Amino acid sequence: MKATARAPANIALIKYWGKQNEELRLPLNSSISINLSNCHTITTVKFSPKYKQELVEIRDYSSSERSESRSHWTSSGLSSRQARTVIHVNFKEERRVVGHLERIRKLAKIHLKAKVVSKNSFPSSAGIAASASGFAALTLAATKAAGLSLSEKELSILARLGSGSACRSIPNGFVEWQQAKTSQESYAYSLCPPDYWDLRDIIAIVQKQEKKISSTKGMEKVFTSPFLKARLKEMKNKIEKIKKALKEKDFRLLGEVTEEEAINIHCVMMTQKPPLFYWSELTIKIIKAVCQWREKGLPIYFTIDAGSNVHLICQAKDEKEVVKKLKKINGVLDVIINKPAQGARLINEHLF
Ligand code: DP6
Repeated sequence: MKATARAPANIALIKYWGKQNEELRLPLNSSISINLSNCHTITTVKFSPKYKQELVEIRDYSSSERSESRSHWTSSGLSSRQARTVIHVNFKEERRVVGHLERIRKLAKIHLKAKVVSKNSFPSSAGIAASASGFAALTLAATKAAGLSLSEKELSILARLGSGSACRSIPNGFVEWQQAKTSQESYAYSLCPPDYWDLRDIIAIVQKQEKKISSTKGMEKVFTSPFLKARLKEMKNKIEKIKKALKEKDFRLLGEVTEEEAINIHCVMMTQKPPLFYWSELTIKIIKAVCQWREKGLPIYFTIDAGSNVHLICQAKDEKEVVKKLKKINGVLDVIINKPAQGARLINEHLF
């Protein structure tokens, strides 16, 4: 009853910000993303009668660099504060993981406790959707370990309940997550396979620490922005344009709409009450550099999630030039080069 899954993070060209149903994580609008080849989570899950308590160990990028991990024993899952702490742990993260295990146990009709070990290949909670790859990998590994064999659609729906953007990390390549009124209708599916278009998402890491306000918390206040209505009104049109750009491999259209969408969502964030400023000075410096490089003929566009890191979208032919330019910017801590990638997969290399 042990299984391991690997799932990619994804970058949304059309983004999800706001829920019509908090509990079911039903989004206000559909979104479109690309799975990332170099940002992934690997998760091993084992259910066993031997476990008297649940063990969740999350190793993230920075902690695995220091070769330590954050792990935590919990006896009853949700009320885990009295449980034995091995090393430092983020209780909120842990509660979400245990909550997701509960969903899967219910579905599989089992009552066994689980051991979960999870490892990211990138800094979590810094604007790369760690919860997306995390909950996609957890969903696939835990359902398999619990003896379930779910379809891609079922896995996507289940992953969505853990974290909205995670449903987009289940299918392959370029993905759309459908907005819908019911849980059964709101899932993600592949629009094109990963090798359909040789694009790059080059991430300029400007911050490695955990962001102060999570996406979950941040988007709760979306309804306080006076610009939300205008954002949603434009959504259908923007989604159609991205789909057209994909169909015709029109890079300029794809880039322009992606950038417009990134600015739009951050305007909504900044006009929420209280306002949310995810950008740092370096974020703005990179945005301005991208605009200058483009003026000089380099076809490149930016997008930014709920964090300060900047994702640069370009074509494969321009990868080297973009990386060279980024590395010259003072303060850029790391550069991660991603190609479009396949979705969540089971693998044989277990973490324990
Ligand atoms: C800005 O999927 O992390 O990255 O459903 O509450 O877990 P929850 O939110 P989450 O939000 C991601 C927000 C975003 C945009 C996107 O990826 O679409």
